[in-house]
Amino acid sequence: MHSLTNRRILLGVTGGIAAYKAAELIRRLKDQHADVRVVMTKAAQEFITPLTLQALSGNPVHHSLLDTEAEAAMGHIELAKWADLILIAPASADFIARCHSGMADDLLTTLCLASVAPIALAPAMNQAMWGDAKTQNNMQALEKSGMFVFGPGSGSQACGDIGLGRMLEATDIAARCAQLFHSEKLSGKHIVITAGPTREALDPVRYISNHSSGKMGFALASAAIDAGARVTLIAGPVNLVTPERVTRIDIISALDMHAASLKACEDADIFIASAAVADYRAADIAEQKIKKSGDEIQLTLVKNPDIVASIAALKNKPFCVGFAAETQNLEEYAKGKLQRKNLDMIIANDVANTAIGFNSDNNAVTVFTSQSQKEFPQCSKQLLAQQLLSHIHQAL
Ligand code: PMT
Repeated sequence: MHSLTNRRILLGVTGGIAAYKAAELIRRLKDQHADVRVVMTKAAQEFITPLTLQALSGNPVHHSLLDTEAEAAMGHIELAKWADLILIAPASADFIARCHSGMADDLLTTLCLASVAPIALAPAMNQAMWGDAKTQNNMQALEKSGMFVFGPGSGSQACGDIGLGRMLEATDIAARCAQLFHSEKLSGKHIVITAGPTREALDPVRYISNHSSGKMGFALASAAIDAGARVTLIAGPVNLVTPERVTRIDIISALDMHAASLKACEDADIFIASAAVADYRAADIAEQKIKKSGDEIQLTLVKNPDIVASIAALKNKPFCVGFAAETQNLEEYAKGKLQRKNLDMIIANDVANTAIGFNSDNNAVTVFTSQSQKEFPQCSKQLLAQQLLSHIHQAL
């Protein structure tokens, strides 16, 4: 079974008798290691208490758009950016109608409008309400707009009716959520990804490095596995757990990363250079610790090989994707690197913005090819990685 490890699921609970099943659903999502936050509508709180869902999810339950305390802790826009998936279960007929009409008069409808995350609905209502033409029209329109629909199932209902309208069982909904994160798009492809910083030694105890945490590269590795690829991850010194089924090669310096990348790319289809490689290294690494002397010290640095450019220069070159970490002139510098390094694609991020880029859990990027430009608004690195791999797949 697929897992939901590291997936952030925003569970929206709307008013209906099936709201009690949200408790079980949270447990099933957490069994698969999802990080769950709950948003309840006012009507949902008549059926099950926020305290129950807070205890099960391990996070405060959000319910009001106008609650200043909750907004100060995690505002609705932050919450919208946090989610990798918005799951509405149960989704009542009223919520479905309001969502379809684009209303934003409570927290949950607002989040549905404000988030770039995929949205899945698990409808639950009386069979006649489900069969009504207005509900069916609303559902068709929402599905057409890209929302996923889980169920409903058929059977006996709380009101005594029998028919379609029962919310699917929690295990079934959790399994369908996991499936949403998986595809076979890149099946048969070998993807080599570099991640994290490099360290360039000055002496046995000191080095030059940068703030890269490796999160972006590891998220890409995980998303590539979910898309069916074989993945080799060449990682600088980072404190991250290797995603399941990824072959990880640990390196320290740019020279190590260069050698490991050349070897791994002998049979690669795609090379993604998300590592923050040091451009220079010490000309000589001191054998002993450099002693303090005088007010100034001169270091001679020499240029490291450009790893992604070396891979792009191979005769049998894979599809080459670079990153551009810029603090100014994002577009101009990124396009320059795309051309100079002979890349197929470059992913530009603004590393002056501390809410994204280096060491953050989130990122926002613009992707350039020689023919196109596409913006990917701020979201988690997990969701972004999934979107970037779809984009790469389309460009192959
Ligand atoms: O690791 P995180 O904390 O999650 O942060 C993610 C990130 C900000 C590091 C990532 O999104 C990112 O931007 N990675 C590229 C960082 C970088 O070194 O960019 P650059 O503009 O200096 O280099 C351009 C490209 O050339 C990059 O693909 C880089 O990997 C590659 N390069 C650079 C120098 C070199 N000697 N060899 C290279 O292959």
